[in-house]
Amino acid sequence: MATRKPCIGVLTGGGDCPGLNAVIRAVVKSATRLGYDCVGFLRGYEGLVDPVSYMPLDRQNTSEILLRGGTILGSTNKGRFTALVGHGERVRIDPDLLAQAGDTLRRLRVSGLICVGGDGSLAIAQQLFEHGLPVVGVPKTIDNDLGATAFTFGFDSAVATATDALDRLHTTAASHERVMVLEVMGRHAGWIALHAGIAGGGDVILVPEIPWTFEAVCAHVTAREAEGRRSTLIVVAEGAALPDGGLVHEATADAQRQVKLGGIGQRVAAELGARLDREVRAVVLGHLQRGGTPTPFDRLLATQFGAHAVGLVHDGRFGEMVRYRPPHIEGVPIATAIHELSVVDPASSAVRAARALGVSFGDGVAATETAARGSAARG
Ligand code: F6P
Repeated sequence: MATRKPCIGVLTGGGDCPGLNAVIRAVVKSATRLGYDCVGFLRGYEGLVDPVSYMPLDRQNTSEILLRGGTILGSTNKGRFTALVGHGERVRIDPDLLAQAGDTLRRLRVSGLICVGGDGSLAIAQQLFEHGLPVVGVPKTIDNDLGATAFTFGFDSAVATATDALDRLHTTAASHERVMVLEVMGRHAGWIALHAGIAGGGDVILVPEIPWTFEAVCAHVTAREAEGRRSTLIVVAEGAALPDGGLVHEATADAQRQVKLGGIGQRVAAELGARLDREVRAVVLGHLQRGGTPTPFDRLLATQFGAHAVGLVHDGRFGEMVRYRPPHIEGVPIATAIHELSVVDPASSAVRAARALGVSFGDGVAATETAARGSAARG
């Protein structure tokens, strides 16, 4: 693309989530006002290397994408850059790919590349930066497991979808006097399960951070039935390990991709059904929670991230990532940000509030005991 104006590039990497298009729109609108041209690389980092694929971005082709789910640039969590990196793990990216990416940016006169992604994609961004490329990061993931930022966009939308699913499951579970299990995403952290579980009135919440047992879950269902509650809703995060420590996942022969989690909901349903001699059904929410229109909160956060990322490029603050540290959006080195995993604190006020209402985390801790602990901690 021949241009005399300086140019900002943007790409979206890893799994998609609601709000990616809001970032792209914010980047283009704010960059244009500062006098930049914009270009979007397609299919994540793949667009930077042979065959290079990109599209010029302007006010016209990014209008009306604020509320559209997914990403107009496409994304991938596979490909040549995928190196099973993140949260401290590092696998070196092929130097030839890094050199190709640099050539592409120079040829298109891209003076700043905004990489929108989760832990893996940001770890790739860091390697590009270490190779001398002018990179700025924007964190995204529905899992909300990046410790450097209070929230990632996509999370609020995923929680809204999971809460809606629980609202719907309530009525059918009550009508049939069933135990129902909803499996939600959450690879390393149980944020979606916890927030949707509370907002959607779940009775049992199983997360990776709190070890649980089938005995405790069964005891909770039985206790509810003794109180006359004929239906029970259980929310389980895909990354909640079984009591023996094992994760439930699909078998995959694809060494390039991370383990495909999924199936814990069905395992919980089968085990409870057998132990309780009750009808237990499982629902896997899956990618429904990654699609669709972003919530107003996610649009707001994504828009601020996009505009702030352009500011970082404009100020030459490469190697930094935007983050939300309420009430501010600010920059933080990507190198430190990618090492911080955010997980649910079992002693947090959200967990304590849930327990105080009688929600079980499958660990047999009684609500009264928890409430007492809370008051003791408060002194
Ligand atoms: O990282 C976000 C996430 O939604 C995880 O919760 C989930 O394990 C993963 O993506 C699934 O990604 P995909 O199905 O695209 O491989």
